Amino acid sequence: MKKLEIAVIPGDGIGKEVVPVATKVLDTVAEIHGGLKFEYNEFPWSCDYYLEHGKMMPDNGLDILKNFDAIFLGAIGNPQVVADHVSLWGLLIKIRREFEQSINIRPAKFFKGLKSSLVNPNDFDLIVVRENSEGEYSEVGGRIHRGEDEVAIQNAVFTKKGTERAMRYAFELAKQRRGHVTSATKSNGIVHSMPFWDEVFNEVKGDYADIQTASYHIDALAAFFVTRPQIFDVIVASNLFGDILTDIGGAIMGSIGIAPAANINLNGKYPSMFEPVHGSAPDIYGKGIANPIGQVWTAKMMLDHFGEQELGQKLLDAIEDVTNEGIKTPDIGGTSSTNEVGEAICSRLKEVC
Ligand code: NAI
Ligand code: MG
Repeated sequence: MKKLEIAVIPGDGIGKEVVPVATKVLDTVAEIHGGLKFEYNEFPWSCDYYLEHGKMMPDNGLDILKNFDAIFLGAIGNPQVVADHVSLWGLLIKIRREFEQSINIRPAKFFKGLKSSLVNPNDFDLIVVRENSEGEYSEVGGRIHRGEDEVAIQNAVFTKKGTERAMRYAFELAKQRRGHVTSATKSNGIVHSMPFWDEVFNEVKGDYADIQTASYHIDALAAFFVTRPQIFDVIVASNLFGDILTDIGGAIMGSIGIAPAANINLNGKYPSMFEPVHGSAPDIYGKGIANPIGQVWTAKMMLDHFGEQELGQKLLDAIEDVTNEGIKTPDIGGTSSTNEVGEAICSRLKEVC
């Protein structure tokens, strides 16, 4: 029996509604597998926890999480009671940074039964590998001469190690997919870091003779996400470029409620964290209509991470069958509830497996 210990943090708002649906789906997957078991430990760390304890998680929170096989998180944030920078930095960003989750991966694909914002969405199926620890999001820099003569300097930091790590991850991922990697560059305008980025890309690609590659400047690449997303398989991008691209990825899929993400620790020292792209959606919390697909697809990424790609694919197919049948929450044009969508996915899984 393969037993996986999962730290579950539902967090705030709709996180508390979609996480139980996703763990139920995971249990169905485990049942079908027969030799797999998920053991959940749930932690109430959230803005409610903050109101009671004055912090988002206990001081030894990271020590507690360290020993789990993975972290499965819903969403954090309740700006009515705790400022967003306090809640996000007190939990989510702390985990990403301290646990060296140096890669953020976000897939986007055309979903049957979903209305894409593209007029002619064709079939696209891509995944963005975003460098998650350095690049443009660095703390190096500062501001001087406050007032009229003020100067602000923000330095981007690209290390060979961090750049190469993201690129190798992308190439390895492409091996399991359609064998194509696109690099997001801007070496025509950014004259130090981006030519460096290109050099490292060319070096790494030398080790992967079977993988096809392309390199586009980020502005053109962003436009291609809209005009012909079907040309992409794996895209590797710096922290900022990846952030922007993945929002476009979510947009062309049709709803932020279905977009999944994973923060991957590559050195094996700490667990990886799986969380959907969306936030706590206070505007719909409590109505039972939050779309659970983002969270369930995130669970699929966790299955992949644990080497259960075959079951992961079956889960993704089951989600798509359910949306195609019209069992959808209101954000994607349906009338079903969060739980109804979850139950439909479980039933569909049992039918096909
Ligand atoms: P949001 O993603 O929570 O909501 C944006 C819009 O999308 C809302 O209209 C919401 O109803 C809708 N939406 C989001 N997820 C949905 C789902 N699963 N089903 C149906 N509709 C969905 O972003 P917003 O409103 O900017 O932020 C709300 C709170 O969430 C803030 O405190 C913010 O800081 C936090 N947040 C947390 C994130 C995280 O935990 N990773 C990511 C983004 C925001
Ligand atoms: Mg973003």
